[in-house]
Amino acid sequence: MKLTWYGHATWHIQVSGFNVLVDPFLSGNPLAPVSPDKVDADFIVVTHGHADHLGDTIEIARRTGALVIANAEISRWLSGHGLKTYGQHIGGSASHPFGRLKLTQAIHGSSLPDGTYGGMPAGVLISDGSCKVYHAGDTGLFPGMALIGEEAVDVALLPIGDRYTMGPEDALRAVKFLRPRVAIPMHYNTWDIIRQDPYQWAACVREETGTEVVVLSAGDTYLVE
Ligand code: NI
Ligand code: MN
Repeated sequence: MKLTWYGHATWHIQVSGFNVLVDPFLSGNPLAPVSPDKVDADFIVVTHGHADHLGDTIEIARRTGALVIANAEISRWLSGHGLKTYGQHIGGSASHPFGRLKLTQAIHGSSLPDGTYGGMPAGVLISDGSCKVYHAGDTGLFPGMALIGEEAVDVALLPIGDRYTMGPEDALRAVKFLRPRVAIPMHYNTWDIIRQDPYQWAACVREETGTEVVVLSAGDTYLVE
């Protein structure tokens, strides 16, 4: 599995020969190294309805024909915009051509850009049978992360920006619940209002846990082995 960070909570995951975009927020994302008219997508996963996560889903899915995976409310809304969708919901797993995908709890909001109720926000577990990646979505710390940790997470993608999601201290506590092999920080330094030092966070995590931290720059790829 190859994880390429496009800044913020936007990831391009290459898994089982497919391109899976998670929260494809590219236009308006000052860190984005690619534009929505260039990016490859076979599947798009949307964790919640906020504009910095729904992002360019409609434009990319219309151009590429990608199948959009999201909770029932967001799936229904995107179907209404003419997209092919696959509805799931919190706690539910489904098999897709690229692997197994489960939506998990996230503590956050999820209204869609036009004010439509977007249902519960989600995190995502993606497994190809040998590696498991957890994208936490936008969330505060919650004790159920310990249950997610029981699923043997290889790589956890965790927000550290604070203000709208976990900040560095709670993200450290999240690592203690999740016990992933590797943690990668996200949802920080997109704007000044979520400015953080990822290297300082990495040092704290290494000091207090057995988890390795990988700090990426936007456009970097991490190979999960
Ligand atoms: Ni949000
Ligand atoms: Mn967000």
